[in-house]
Amino acid sequence: MLSTPAKAILRSSTASVLPKTATRSIATTTSAATNGQQQKRSMATVQDAPPVQHKRGLQDQDRIFQNLYGQHGADLKTAQKYGDWYKTKEIIEKGHDWLISEIKASGLRGRGGAGFPSGMKWSFMNFKDWDKDTKPRYLVVNADEGEPGTCKDREIMRKDPHKLIEGCLVAGRAMNCTAAYIYIRGEFYHEATVLQRAIQEAYQAGLIGKNACGSGYDFDVYLHRGMGAYVCGEETSLIESLEGKPGKPRLKPPFPAAVGLFGCPSTVANVETIAVAPTIIRRGANWFNSFGRERNAGTKLFCISGHVNNPCTVEEEMSIPLRELIDKHAGGVIGGWDNLKAVIPGGSSTPILPKNVCDDQLMDFDALKDSQSGLGTAAVIVMDQSTDVVRAIARLSKFYHHESCGQCTPCREGSKWVEQIMQRFEKGTARAREIDMMQELTKQVEGHTICALGEAFAWPVQGLIRHFRPELEARIAENTQKSGGEALAGGWAHDSQKRGMLISPGQ
Ligand SMILES: Cc1cc2nc3c(=O)[nH]c(=O)nc-3n(C[C@H](O)[C@H](O)[C@H](O)COP(=O)(O)O)c2cc1C
Ligand code: SF4
Repeated sequence: MLSTPAKAILRSSTASVLPKTATRSIATTTSAATNGQQQKRSMATVQDAPPVQHKRGLQDQDRIFQNLYGQHGADLKTAQKYGDWYKTKEIIEKGHDWLISEIKASGLRGRGGAGFPSGMKWSFMNFKDWDKDTKPRYLVVNADEGEPGTCKDREIMRKDPHKLIEGCLVAGRAMNCTAAYIYIRGEFYHEATVLQRAIQEAYQAGLIGKNACGSGYDFDVYLHRGMGAYVCGEETSLIESLEGKPGKPRLKPPFPAAVGLFGCPSTVANVETIAVAPTIIRRGANWFNSFGRERNAGTKLFCISGHVNNPCTVEEEMSIPLRELIDKHAGGVIGGWDNLKAVIPGGSSTPILPKNVCDDQLMDFDALKDSQSGLGTAAVIVMDQSTDVVRAIARLSKFYHHESCGQCTPCREGSKWVEQIMQRFEKGTARAREIDMMQELTKQVEGHTICALGEAFAWPVQGLIRHFRPELEARIAENTQKSGGEALAGGWAHDSQKRGMLISPGQ
């Protein structure tokens, strides 16, 4: 029997006209590649015409995550009352082709940062003659959530764990997986405890394990705790770590769908991506696709932090204007919208946007790509006029340097140089020409590393130079005036030599 709240949710899923799904390829940081070729990494797709807006306003009953604020229990009974595990047997009995085509039609794009179309990515697992391959096949759920500013996956795991577990079964069935491994960040002790309890409940109720939901399909779910390294969120690094090795990204190809966890076909997907799958299937692809804009469909969890009156994580319609998102859910910018200085729109690795861009910014993959930033993990970091943006980006550079695994020279050395130069920018002890040098350095890193951590430290600095160059120049000019001359390379005072300091030749 379906409970009243669950019925209300299902009633609200009146389908609207299904827009054409994306046919254009979308650049990615994920394992997916079409025609066996690795695509260039970038934030998201570039489009040639502005897509149609479907804005219809998100009602409470449209929200997938009904327990985001923990008003209800996270236990199985409560989850079922709110619609989870409803007719899951029928769903998985539909088979992989139907499931994948529904996810494709829904327009769901990966919520882990790169925004690759999920249906297409999952379909890579069902390659020709996959059923003749006797190896196990894995769904690996990325619950590492290391991107600074991001705090959505943890909310799902501690408040709505059954959505994720049911999602593992549904997505796992779509990819014909044997089991799911949820790789959870080590610091998420509470989330891991809640999730493990929910996994046990699902086993005891026969929802997963042998003959899951009575469907004849066997599917296991394992929880694995990581050790809290940011780079372990990168899919191949995560796989290495799961295998018990140091978390260092692998070169692709081979992509995980061919050679993944323990050498078996695998797909790594974000917690939110997997957790929304059962609801999409239940309410229908058209329902999901009726939110947002073409190629940017659905609802999305946004994490709003920084200088707002009410920092929060909220589920909203994709493509919502940034200003509306902040005003409606985060109580507005502290001191009012005019007090806004800048926003990092999608987690720390996405380029910063100044207020004049934020004024009319839509929050989706394509709109943010057009503004030379990215939706990333939709972690919106708001900075008011009191913010020292140079210092803020310098702090992020320190983080990325610390997290580099050191395998690639451009990342290992580049992240260190960037950190050092950013410290000089902060103090004004850089040379004016170092601004262009920094831009050049970050361009040299982009696309020349094994994983996208290279881009992650390059893009914030590029955003800073693009929008706040006058601030960098003013700081250097101020220091030059104060100290009587422009600093030497390396941040040495202009008269260091005169003062008998030992500095390297050529400074
Ligand atoms: C350095 C680095 C860290 C990442 N951290 C995460 C993370 O914490 N969680 C996540 O879901 N994806 C993370 N990603 C993206 C994953 O590599 C992968 O693209 C994602 O899990 C795919 O899931 P999706 O298809 O559902 O988006 C990271 C990528 C990089 C390069
Ligand atoms: S880009 Fe950086 S983090 Fe990624 S593999 Fe290379 S050195 Fe490691």
